[in-house]
Amino acid sequence: MAKAQVTFADIGETVTVSAGTRIIEVSEKVNAGLVYGCREGDCGTCIMQVLDGWENLSQPSVLEEKVLRDNNVGRHCRLACQAQILGGSVTVKPA
Ligand code: FES
Repeated sequence: MAKAQVTFADIGETVTVSAGTRIIEVSEKVNAGLVYGCREGDCGTCIMQVLDGWENLSQPSVLEEKVLRDNNVGRHCRLACQAQILGGSVTVKPA
């Protein structure tokens, strides 16, 4: 399976994962500062800022876009429980 790299800027850790992994699954394993609530794209607790590699993430669903809008987040924010890394590398930190 294709590999991808996720860097958590808050703890300075880079992890190699399988393409298709959701960011929250990795952040939990390495104890990055991303926290979550529902893990279903509903509560907005897991909002993260994407510092680099935005194009390597899956497209946000209609529900995710609504949650991001409702939470008034800035550009390049995503829900860590919904965004999947599709390949390449991405750098994130808690929003
Ligand atoms: S944990 Fe609730 S939206 Fe991601």
